[in-house]
Amino acid sequence: MENVILRGEDIHKSFGQKEVLKGITIDIRKSELLVIMGPSGCGKSVLIKNLIGLMKPDRGRIFFENEEVTNYTEKEWFKVRPKLGMLFQGGALFDYMTVFENVAFPLERRGERFNAIKEKVHWILKKLGLEGTENLMPNELSGGMRRRVALARTLVANPLLTFLDEPTTGLDPVTTANIDKLILFLKKEFDTTFAVITHDVKSAFRIADRIVLLFGGNIVFDGTVDEMKRSDNPYVRQFVEGKAEGPMKIEV
Ligand SMILES: Nc1ncnc2c1ncn2[C@@H]1O[C@H](COP(=O)(O)OP(=O)(O)O)[C@@H](O)[C@H]1O
Ligand SMILES: [Mg+2]
Repeated sequence: MENVILRGEDIHKSFGQKEVLKGITIDIRKSELLVIMGPSGCGKSVLIKNLIGLMKPDRGRIFFENEEVTNYTEKEWFKVRPKLGMLFQGGALFDYMTVFENVAFPLERRGERFNAIKEKVHWILKKLGLEGTENLMPNELSGGMRRRVALARTLVANPLLTFLDEPTTGLDPVTTANIDKLILFLKKEFDTTFAVITHDVKSAFRIADRIVLLFGGNIVFDGTVDEMKRSDNPYVRQFVEGKAEGPMKIEV
């Protein structure tokens, strides 16, 4: 399919006896903001790690820009990775580096020249409302600012496809709303494609073009925000309304 950037086909992944992904098929389409939702521990992070070659699926195939990458070697993935942005869950900054050094890191690793790096870092910090923080250390920043620096580090290399793994988890509702607004702004500004993991329904409804809901190793819903709001799918209802009772059996 032409407008699909990344496709996972029948992805299976187990850890020992535990079958986490039971044959997931997922497309990420050009310029969309796809939200991947589901309860904690359902396999959201494992899914994206499989999609970007950080974990190998037990079964299934992965295509990036219509080329099969399933059995790529680490060296072959090197060619693909510059096109991918990844904000890991927890998104830790290097706390012994300044904001500037943190954001410059992916460009330096790529061997870019200092002047070009400087220009790009200043540009992205400005876009993210972080002007003047260049010389601060992460522990001098608020939680929301740290997330924005982590976003800046993810986006500075202008990726074609950006994965954000729980970019707002642990933030207060107002900071979350601001980060969501920023994500929408960045999507427009860069015309880039996002796959965002969250378990925050409110946040998902604000930012998503399309939502997939993961549970029990399968995708139990795939649709737009409106479709999700109107859906009578029992998984959707339980998750959206945050109910203990329903088809999602979760042990606490
Ligand atoms: N490297 C690993 N080794 C063993 N089990 C793992 C590993 N990574 C994840 N898991 C397990 O897979 C399940 C899904 O984890 P994860 O994808 O992190 O969930 P979430 O949906 O919260 O992101 C969990 O039960 C987790 O313990
Ligand atoms: Mg996770």
